[in-house]
Amino acid sequence: MHDIFEALLTDSFQRPHQYLRISLTDACNLRCFYCMPDEDSHCTPHHQLMQTNEILSLAKTFVGLGVNKIRLTGGEPLVRKEFPEILKALSELPVQLTLTSNGVFLDKYLDLLKQSGVRSINISLDTLEREKFILLTKRDNLDIVKANINKAIEYGFHVKVNMVVMRGINENELCDFAAWSVNMPLHIRFIEFMPFTGNQWHHDKVYTRDEILHTLAGKFDFIPLAKEPHDTAHKYFVKGAKGSFAIISTMSHPFCGDCNRLRLTADGKMRNCLFATHETDLLYALRSGQSIEPLIVENLKQKSQKLGGQFDEHFEKIQPETLQNRSMIAIGG
Ligand code: 5AD
Ligand code: SF4
Repeated sequence: MHDIFEALLTDSFQRPHQYLRISLTDACNLRCFYCMPDEDSHCTPHHQLMQTNEILSLAKTFVGLGVNKIRLTGGEPLVRKEFPEILKALSELPVQLTLTSNGVFLDKYLDLLKQSGVRSINISLDTLEREKFILLTKRDNLDIVKANINKAIEYGFHVKVNMVVMRGINENELCDFAAWSVNMPLHIRFIEFMPFTGNQWHHDKVYTRDEILHTLAGKFDFIPLAKEPHDTAHKYFVKGAKGSFAIISTMSHPFCGDCNRLRLTADGKMRNCLFATHETDLLYALRSGQSIEPLIVENLKQKSQKLGGQFDEHFEKIQPETLQNRSMIAIGG
């Protein structure tokens, strides 16, 4: 059974795809410069977003093709006013359901998330310093995010904290984040800074996996853990720690070889890679009564071997203005 499913969503490089990330909105209550190009970038009108029944219908089609894990992303998924009904609808599907959030509104939804079978939550947080948080997000919400991370842990969720590491901005906090994962049962993921439209990326700002490890080795005694299949993160364990840390090295050591990810943008476009240059309008197809499965299979066939075919691990050579992409907020983390 399992193998038949795998075959349905296998791309031309023999990679099975069983993980779908659904963006619920391209709106956000924060304004992180590396994600959202500028303050007045418009967000999609509500009627152009996938509606609850449409999300459920598309998700069911993907599940029928073998998807067994769905992550809700954004923008900020918790600003979507139908979030509770969307979550409830998706919780009926036979999938592992997870969420990526900036954490600001998380306390309001912890009960609901628990009831819906969500066990693991990723929270984006790039700094533990208040002034820097305001500079990065243009909002003064650090305390509430930290409080909500603690609440999520108390509720028993497996909590991962995503920190995008940017040279000259927050690499001086690497040890503070790692120390946090020693003292608390949470899992820090250090993410190499990636280029998206309008996000001020420059190769100089990428603080690489090797640099991160070198910095942490000065203060901590840690060992690498075995990598699980399809994992984007290399995990490490610090002796005596309550949590752990991991590194997502998209730029210096891409992990495209066993990528199993598919994406749906909030306006219903399927993307087979963060850096894909083409997308398929599944929402339009659904609204006009077309059959969805062949479109999904066709889109997956086009998946490039690596990084959307746009660059390779020699990221120093990337000229960001030549990349064809949406901004991260429009793709969905
Ligand atoms: N580079 C790396 N990570 C990014 N994210 C958003 N933009 C970027 C970028 N340019 C992260 C967010 C979120 C996750 C889904 O992706 O912090 O936690
Ligand atoms: Fe919002 Fe997350 Fe993007 Fe920041 S990174 S603007 S919190 S969606």
